[in-house]
Amino acid sequence: MNSFRIKRMKTSSFGAALLLCAAGASIAEPTTYDQFIADQRIAKRAKKSEAGQRRLDWWRDARFGMFIHWDPSSVAACEISWSKLYYDDVGDTIKPNPRPGPGLMGMNEWHEPWLDWFHPPVPREVYDNLPKSFYPGMFDADRIVAQAKAAGMKYIVQVSKHHNGFCMWNSEFTDFDMSATPFKRDIIGEMAKACEKAGMKYGIYYSQRDWHHPDYGPERMAKYNEYMRNQIKELLTRHPNISILWFDSGGYPFDLWEGDALYRMVHQLKPDIIINDRCGLPGDFSSPEQLIGSYDLERDWESNMTFTGFWSWHGYQTKVISYEECLQRLVQCAGGNGNLLMNIGPMPTGEIDTREADRLRRVGEWLKVNGSAIYGTKGGPFKPNENFASTRKGNRIYLHVMKWPESGNLTIPPLDAKLVKAVLMRGGKVDVKQSDAGFEISVPKESREPGVTTVGMEFDRNVMDLVPAVPPKPVSGGKPVKSSSRFSQMNGYEAARVNDGDPKTRWVVSDAVSAVCFPW
Ligand code: GLC
Repeated sequence: MNSFRIKRMKTSSFGAALLLCAAGASIAEPTTYDQFIADQRIAKRAKKSEAGQRRLDWWRDARFGMFIHWDPSSVAACEISWSKLYYDDVGDTIKPNPRPGPGLMGMNEWHEPWLDWFHPPVPREVYDNLPKSFYPGMFDADRIVAQAKAAGMKYIVQVSKHHNGFCMWNSEFTDFDMSATPFKRDIIGEMAKACEKAGMKYGIYYSQRDWHHPDYGPERMAKYNEYMRNQIKELLTRHPNISILWFDSGGYPFDLWEGDALYRMVHQLKPDIIINDRCGLPGDFSSPEQLIGSYDLERDWESNMTFTGFWSWHGYQTKVISYEECLQRLVQCAGGNGNLLMNIGPMPTGEIDTREADRLRRVGEWLKVNGSAIYGTKGGPFKPNENFASTRKGNRIYLHVMKWPESGNLTIPPLDAKLVKAVLMRGGKVDVKQSDAGFEISVPKESREPGVTTVGMEFDRNVMDLVPAVPPKPVSGGKPVKSSSRFSQMNGYEAARVNDGDPKTRWVVSDAVSAVCFPW
């Protein structure tokens, strides 16, 4: 049986004060807490304070980040945390635990693949003891960061603690951490340092849900919340370069986590931190999961997506999406004015799955040539569809063609601006004809690229606020890109929108909410 205990707080107040100063050194633009929390409660960017809008400038320009889901679950090639939801005695069949099943979350109807997360059914005895076999001997933080950099990614968000409660660093507050593994090394610490060295932005994912902590439960939340605050404080003080806080319990109310005390502490240590929408508030951006977000110029968003359908490593028998699909996701996100946080699930060896590494390397090659059409751009003016997406900067519109119509030429709707010049970003032949009916774009087959061909079009005026005269239609029977609205609901954005502008409206912990929350 698993025998990990929760440690008492050991940090002396003097030590804590020193760490606090270290964290303070990186503070760029302090805002008051009142301002900070008011911004967190507002969804639309334009309604936030100026500082609240500016804090996201680097993130918005970055467009492409790496998500890392990795912990001892990789040793059994099973799903991170969720494999614990359906334990089996010996591993023959899936048996529901007394915990609420996916049906309760209404998952079945809309996201069938989600059920696969529970396969293979790992016996309790095995799952709960995986940390004892976690020895990623090939782990090299500098190498992972270099791979992210070569892929053209500008930031990394790494799971520090997932729902199963295991901590990927050595925490003062629990033994259920790297010290319980034969490896012992502080993985989060090494990654934070490697990112700092390489000029890569670093963020942590931290799950408020904790299926290991003895005080995680309806009557005992105060103690658990203190533990959570201590841990986040520990991470932010040890690693002042943490720039993103990625929570993951969006449908749960802010007050359940004593959100005010939590955010106050976070703000004190890192006033310019960026926070997602999964702590019961709209936060800085929404986080559509496994879906491309909808075109939105008012609300920042970041799609988080996997290569395999799973978050953590499930072995070499899983399918990995192609390079072309990965690249198309990136241009669809940029074209919708959002970011892509592409997930990798490192192997138990500590390395990135070679197939995922291959896709990333190739996207990086593409970005070396086409990067100026992605970084620092705004989505549009055309809404992305299956055939093309568009981005823009100053006088330029970049057209990212994913699928050419049978006829050979791509037609796009008219704009109120005169085309001055059109080039293929990679070089080669392109011909663009402008008429009242729109633009006809022709690129000979030999000049097209696998996945995405990007055409740079220069106009006689600034195009940042241009709106197309007619909305574009899919060219050859293509379907529009799936909207993220269903998942946004799951993540509290819809509900948060109701609260928007009225800080007095608070969530209440209803019976229904606690039925879903506990004993999860
Ligand atoms: C989900 C899952 C989780 C994953 C995450 C990524 O809510 O619970 O396993 O870490 O979202 O968005």
